[in-house]
Amino acid sequence: MRNFTFSNTTKIIFGKGAEEKVGREAAQYGRKVLLHYGGGHIVRSGLKERVEKYLKDAGLEIVELGGVQPNPRLSLVREGIELARREKVDLILAVGGGSVIDSAKAIGIGVPCQGDVWDFFMGKAEAQETLPVGVVLTIPAAGSESSTGSVITNEDGWLKRPYGSVIMRPKFALLNPELTYSLPPYQTACGVADMMAHIMERYFTNEPEVGFSDHLCEAALRSIIQEAPRAIAEPENYGARANLMWASTIAHNGLLGMGREEDWASHNIEHELSGIYDIAHGAGLAIVFPAWMKYVYKHNPSRFVQFAVRVFQVEQDFCNPERTILEGIRRLEEFFRSIGLPVRLKEAGIPADRFEEMAEKATADGPQGSLVPLYKGDVLAIYELCNS
Ligand code: NZQ
Ligand code: ZN
Repeated sequence: MRNFTFSNTTKIIFGKGAEEKVGREAAQYGRKVLLHYGGGHIVRSGLKERVEKYLKDAGLEIVELGGVQPNPRLSLVREGIELARREKVDLILAVGGGSVIDSAKAIGIGVPCQGDVWDFFMGKAEAQETLPVGVVLTIPAAGSESSTGSVITNEDGWLKRPYGSVIMRPKFALLNPELTYSLPPYQTACGVADMMAHIMERYFTNEPEVGFSDHLCEAALRSIIQEAPRAIAEPENYGARANLMWASTIAHNGLLGMGREEDWASHNIEHELSGIYDIAHGAGLAIVFPAWMKYVYKHNPSRFVQFAVRVFQVEQDFCNPERTILEGIRRLEEFFRSIGLPVRLKEAGIPADRFEEMAEKATADGPQGSLVPLYKGDVLAIYELCNS
């Protein structure tokens, strides 16, 4: 196991009515709040009106910026930076999912910076400061409510790129599972694939002697596999929604990766799909992750056997480990299908005509992943597997 420092400073308030505490939490950071949200589900559900009331009751002034799209766009981030500077806001409050939170985080680091905020995402600059960000979460998926990262899409070239810094962890995140009752089944399923992928990016490592965090990862994966169908069949099942919501935060708050070398090739390969075709990130991962597994398992077969046996209860074939591994991957695909996700590009309506360009872009900064470093030709082969 590697040396590590674990410090997750996001204050999580979890449970029924959590969002009612937003005034008290936000007031600790100043007087003026930029209320940032997406395409309008929070308007339709009445959540926006309630949040505004809680903020006003705490004596706070509100400036608002809605319109964040899934796969959040750089142009709105720039608009938010200008607005926050002009209005001298003290805190950005993201009410929504990963896209809204990521947009808020990018605005947060953009406001105090002298240069172009996109430079952070292109690896040309490091953020030194940020406006504080708070969260009212409405979808368990990205884990952005306590992660260090933000993923933004630049419409100029449809480049989707992540950037992360410890200063970008939200100050507080309010998690009420009841706010997720309104999620459509498909969106719930996309969130499930994303949270599972966040765990698997950490699970598939070459690092020896990480048995404790292996077991944490496996328990989290098994819980998600158990709760997801319940949440989809009974959208107002509090227990299922609550377990998914907490699992998705833990999946990406850093804990499960401690002491391990993490991979992240599948995420970076997926970002080209959601960047270009604007599909949900989780749907892209349901396609890419199994394909990645098929391409790399020979480099560390025992880890893939362990996954099959412990996560999907595959009976181990001691004479033929490959059979065990492939059955584990098949069961993962079967699970994704069972909750309504695509597992091949054509099922998501994505044509096979831009693999070369996507592989080029995905490896433009160098090889991807750590279990096996993947070069352009490897990524191209993985896109082919996504199609076969
Ligand atoms: O736009 P609104 O009206 O808010 O509707 C959203 C959106 O259409 C809707 N929704 C959210 N909560 C709802 C709801 N609809 C009904 N009831 C609710 N309670 O769901 C749609 C998707 O929302 P979005 O925020 O895009 O989903 P998600 O949380 O999955 O975020 C995806 C983004 O996060 C990035 C992804 O790349 C993608 O851009 N990621 C961010 C990470 C991070 N910052 O740490 C890590 C992840 O790997 C991921 O890459
Ligand atoms: Zn993700």
